[in-house]
Amino acid sequence: MEPTNIKHPASPESAAASHAVSRALARFLESSPTSFHAVENIRTALIKEGFTELCENRKWQVTSGGKYFVLRNGSSIAAFVVPEHPFRGMRIFASHSDSPAFKVKENPELESDGHYIRLNVERYGGMLCAPWFDRPLSVAGRVVTKDLETGTFRTKLVDIDRDLVLIPNLAIHMNREANNGYKYNPQKDMLPLYGDLTSKGTFLAEVADAAGVKESDILGHDLFLYNREKASIWGARREFISCGRLDDLQCAYASLQGFLTGKCREYLSVCCVLDNEEVGSGTKQGAASTFLLDTLTRIYGCLGLDREDYLIHLSDSLMVSADNAHAVHPNHADKADPSNRPYINGGIVIKFNAAQKYCTDGVSAAMFRDICQSAQVPVQTFANRSDMAGGSTLGNISNTRVALNTVDIGLPQLAMHSPYETAGVYDTGYLIRAAREFYR
Ligand code: CO
Repeated sequence: MEPTNIKHPASPESAAASHAVSRALARFLESSPTSFHAVENIRTALIKEGFTELCENRKWQVTSGGKYFVLRNGSSIAAFVVPEHPFRGMRIFASHSDSPAFKVKENPELESDGHYIRLNVERYGGMLCAPWFDRPLSVAGRVVTKDLETGTFRTKLVDIDRDLVLIPNLAIHMNREANNGYKYNPQKDMLPLYGDLTSKGTFLAEVADAAGVKESDILGHDLFLYNREKASIWGARREFISCGRLDDLQCAYASLQGFLTGKCREYLSVCCVLDNEEVGSGTKQGAASTFLLDTLTRIYGCLGLDREDYLIHLSDSLMVSADNAHAVHPNHADKADPSNRPYINGGIVIKFNAAQKYCTDGVSAAMFRDICQSAQVPVQTFANRSDMAGGSTLGNISNTRVALNTVDIGLPQLAMHSPYETAGVYDTGYLIRAAREFYR
C-alpha cells in the first residue's frame, strides 16, 4: 500500500480515542453472542438514554419531541426520535443483528460410538467452516416457557457462558486432503463434541440451569453455538480489532452511538437493527417484513399525519443501509476490483453494484459523501470485480416495503463470516461521526 493511501490520523490522541471506542465495541460484541442479546443490549442502552419502549400488541402514544423504540421477536429493533416541530422527512439507518452460526436442532444429543455425546446442529447463514474447528465454543440464545398462573409465554435469554463444546478436526494423517480444498459436510464434519457418555440427557438441563428455569418448563428454544474467543486489539500499531460478529454489529454499534448523540430537527430519526439478514431477510422481523413499514405507519398515525404526508416525506428521505464491506485482502489483492479498493482504517466504504444488489446510485452517493465531508470522515468505494458475483444485504430488500433514496455502506473488514473477523480500530469512530452528522 502506498503511504498516500493511509488516511487515518495517526496522532497519539486519535489513537487513544479510537482504542477507547474499540474497547467499548469489544464489550458490546462479547456481550452479544446472538441477535437476541445484541437487541437486548441496544434496548438497555436506549432505556438508559430515556427512550420509551412501545409494544406492538398495545396502543401507541407517540408525541412530538418523544424518544421511543419497539422490538419484534426480541431480535429486531427500531428506535426513533420525533422532532419537536413539524418535520419534512425521515433519516433511517439500518443494519443487521444476526451473524452466521450453527443452530442447535431439536433433540440435539447424538451418541457416537457408545462413548461420546455430540450436538446435532445446522448452519444458519453462509459461514466459513474451517475457523469453527478446534476452539472452545458455547451455546446462547433464548428459551420459551409458559407461565402457568397467567397462561402467557415467556422468553428468557440464555448464555451458558463457559467453554462447553468444540468441533474437533480430523487429524491430517486421517485426511490427507485437509489442506487441498476440503469440502465440509455440515451433517458429518461440523457437529460439536459435548461430553462423554455420562453427559447423556444433560444438555437441556444445562440450558435450563443457565436460563434460570426448570428444564421441564422449556417448551421451545432458539440456541446457537458461538466462539468463546474474546475480542483482540492487535497489530504493529494496535490498528486491528478482531472478534466474532463484527459483521454487522460494528455497524449496529456505530449507528446507535451516532443516533444517541445526533439531534435532528427537520427529520424523523430512525435507527433499526434487523434480524435474519444472513438468511435472506424473509422473516416476520427481517428487512423483507413489514416491521419498518408498520412502525412508520403507526408513528404517522399517532402524530395525526396521513398517508399523503407519509409519501411526501418519503420522497424527501434518506436511508443508510449499513453492512460491513470486504477490504482488500493482503494475501489476495487480486480478488478486489482494480479501481475500487477499500482498506482497513481507510474510512467508510460506499458500495456500488450495477445490478442494484446495493442501492447506491449517483444521488444517494452524493448525499452520503456530503454527510461524510461535513463530518470530516474519509470514504472509500467498493464494487465487485466484474467477473465475480458479490453478496447481498438489506437495503434493496427493505426498499420493496419502504422505498426511498438509499445508500449502501459498510466498514472495511477481512474474513467476513468467520467466527473471528478482523476490522480497523479507526473505522468505528468514523462511522459514529458520520451517523451523528446524518442525524443532525
Ligand atoms: Co452483514
